[in-house]
Amino acid sequence: MDIDSETWWFALVFGGAPLLIWVMLKWSNEIRYIGPLKLRYGGYIKLPPGNMGLPYFGEMLIFLWYFKILRRPDDFILSKRQRYGEGVGLYRTCLFGTPSIISCSPASNKFFLQQDDSFPISWPSVELLGESSVAAVASGKAHTRLRSYVSNAINSPDALKRIVLVVQPRISSSLQLWADKGTLNGYKEIKKVTFANIGKMFANFEPGPVLDLLDGYFVGILGGVRAQRTNVPGTAYHHALKCRKSATDIFRKELESRRVQRKSEIEERNDLMDGLINMKDEQGKQLGDEEVLDNIVSLVIAGYESTTVASMWALYYLAKFPDVLQKLRDENNAVTQNKKGDFITAKDISELKYTNKVVEETIRLANIAPFIFRLAKEDTEYQGYKIPKDWGIIIWLRHLHTDPRNYNDPMSFNPDRWNGSAKPGTFQVFGGGARICAGNMLARVQIAIFLHHLAIGYKWELINPGTKISYLPHPKPDDELQIKFGRI
Ligand code: HEM
Ligand SMILES: *[C@@H]1O[C@H](CO)[C@@H](O)[C@H](O)[C@H]1NC(C)=O
Repeated sequence: MDIDSETWWFALVFGGAPLLIWVMLKWSNEIRYIGPLKLRYGGYIKLPPGNMGLPYFGEMLIFLWYFKILRRPDDFILSKRQRYGEGVGLYRTCLFGTPSIISCSPASNKFFLQQDDSFPISWPSVELLGESSVAAVASGKAHTRLRSYVSNAINSPDALKRIVLVVQPRISSSLQLWADKGTLNGYKEIKKVTFANIGKMFANFEPGPVLDLLDGYFVGILGGVRAQRTNVPGTAYHHALKCRKSATDIFRKELESRRVQRKSEIEERNDLMDGLINMKDEQGKQLGDEEVLDNIVSLVIAGYESTTVASMWALYYLAKFPDVLQKLRDENNAVTQNKKGDFITAKDISELKYTNKVVEETIRLANIAPFIFRLAKEDTEYQGYKIPKDWGIIIWLRHLHTDPRNYNDPMSFNPDRWNGSAKPGTFQVFGGGARICAGNMLARVQIAIFLHHLAIGYKWELINPGTKISYLPHPKPDDELQIKFGRI
């Protein structure tokens, strides 16, 4: 072997090979996902700026780095903004195994959310939600029809008037129990009372073995919502589908027993199940059994963890901001002074101006749904950028709520900022467009009731005020909100 070829090999192994690997790692996803598009568009395609990341992982590791390791979730988007500029609020990426466009400006979010036909919802899976649930049914007439049933039953002023009275006994008695306990896991306790209220509101279930069983099933279902969609025994997704079936069976048994009961009994219950059974649309059409069941199950999926986490953050922020709690106490004590009984009405709640600002600020800052998912059904274009068919769209809601251009000093908890309203398009905690959260008023009212009963009777403090925050799957303090709790 002569010296020249030895040098050549040496150079190749120690210089060329790593370079080649680096080039492959850096460019393989670009070539894999964008190459075919270039062919389709005759050599050139203008995509939003960004990076398709590593083979297999895409940008998942960077995403987890910001969300899990650094615990600075907003820096994920900020780093893109620094690197690629503000642009039109779109970045290309590959996340959750799918080449995707991230959308994070009010205008671009609106573009996607207002076109539910071209960008249908792609998560959670239809299998888990149920084919005929409002959250899964494709947009258009069928969706509008189901939405009107569901909103009438849980989100309309009439429904809320009733629900406000239905949920209060459980909230007020839970708080008394908490005070007897003294120290508790805030997340777990709130979860318990939230589910007890869901059982009561949705199917008139009282606490007991059936409700506990049902709770276990929904924990399984929620585990599958975030899992990879591989339906083989042993996976979280498989378990979730099984739980879904068992949960549906419990509601089905209840539904069947109601079908044979007399009308007089039905009128007394007045829960979601009765609402969905009895409601008629303009043509007098009613929902079928499977539609009723799919919607009840999917409403638990949509409302259980979200309401729990929102209430938990209210408790957290108030422990951290005593001046806010004091104002809350003043306003709520004033209401109870003119009352005989313990419970407030929907009308009272609408008059609790400061309390409602605290609710709004809690759900803004908590960012319970950090992003939502769509799928591009066809090639489209936004401001000169191509949005390729079959790519995912990740609408990065939380960026709106933590951007100082939208909210002055965005990371501070300041209910007074709601003296005015948010700038148009900058408050999307409940999503937007045709699929805006169908339980948004219900969620608000439940948090307001919780705040009311806390404010008039209790004091509490965080046991670990410095505890770190986890941001996935939902924002939550690592200690699940350990608190000391007592009567005033
Ligand atoms: C603070 C608590 C809550 C938050 C932050 C929240 C957030 C959201 C968001 C962001 C969406 C849009 C999803 C998308 O477009 O991909 C949504 C949809 C939905 N939410 Fe909520 N939600 C909350 C509470 C509730 C409650 C209590 C219920 C009902 C019991 C509910 C029922 C629904 C339903 C049915 C949809 C689907 C609507 C449709 O597709 O037409 N949510 N929610
Ligand atoms: C908001 O309104 C309240 C009550 O009217 C007032 O006390 C507070 O100073 C206002 N705050 C801001 C920031 O405007």
